[in-house]
Amino acid sequence: MNNKAIGLFDSGVGGLTVLKALLHVLPQENYIYLGDTARLPYGTKSKETIIRYALQCTEKLMENDLKMLVVACNTVSSVALPSIKEKYPAIEIIGVVEPGAEAACNTTKNNHIAVLGTQSTIQGKAYDKAIMAKNPHAVVTGKACPLFVGMAEEGITQGFLAEEMAKHYLNDILLQENKPDTMVLGCTHFPLLKNAIQNVVGNSIQLVDSAQTTALKVLACLQENNALAENNVPFMHFLTTDDIAKFKAVGEPFLGISLDKSPVELVDL
Ligand code: DGL
Repeated sequence: MNNKAIGLFDSGVGGLTVLKALLHVLPQENYIYLGDTARLPYGTKSKETIIRYALQCTEKLMENDLKMLVVACNTVSSVALPSIKEKYPAIEIIGVVEPGAEAACNTTKNNHIAVLGTQSTIQGKAYDKAIMAKNPHAVVTGKACPLFVGMAEEGITQGFLAEEMAKHYLNDILLQENKPDTMVLGCTHFPLLKNAIQNVVGNSIQLVDSAQTTALKVLACLQENNALAENNVPFMHFLTTDDIAKFKAVGEPFLGISLDKSPVELVDL
């Protein structure tokens, strides 16, 4: 059981920011990552479509013997987590919204939290519910920032264009009388734009992303179940639904290490 792999999936390469955090906390584990790059973005699609795609991704990963599933996508975690848990009750499943909400609640001092995400994440209000459940006094302002996804994929993550786009999305929030003091990067692509966003919002707003808290939750869960890998020579295996070379090239900045020699397999869902 202990040396079975942890499965992760995302609509594309964004979830590699979660894998990066996991590698930091749990370097001895085995990982299988699926990026549904052919159908990205999920964040503009209907709830029904996102649930269907998420169940297909889960089914593909379940062909492997997994000890845990990490839904490394905010959109899927917001919209489809209950459906995945209902269909796969026997495996531990962790999404990124709960840990993100927890990080935000631990950070805010004035109880005003802004959440940036895709359209589906913001419309679904999963972050609002998770934050309010932890802190009923919280005020949550959601903002859909869909173009950040394409910009992160294109490598436009800092400088003039990135900051102008951040101003375009965030000026309303910054002009509010009671400004939030905490901003959740509620999309796995957004940590790449962290510096540009921070430059625009200033130092009075703390940015939080769920990757690190998710990794800590996975660690705690494995410890609790006595399921940490032991005497393991760790491996990482990647699955993509579109071009392998593109997955490697676009994915590298998200993972922060070279994917040049990593095994990447093309799969059909
Ligand atoms: N990875 C998705 C998320 O975290 C963003 C990209 C998409 O829209 O598919 O919400």
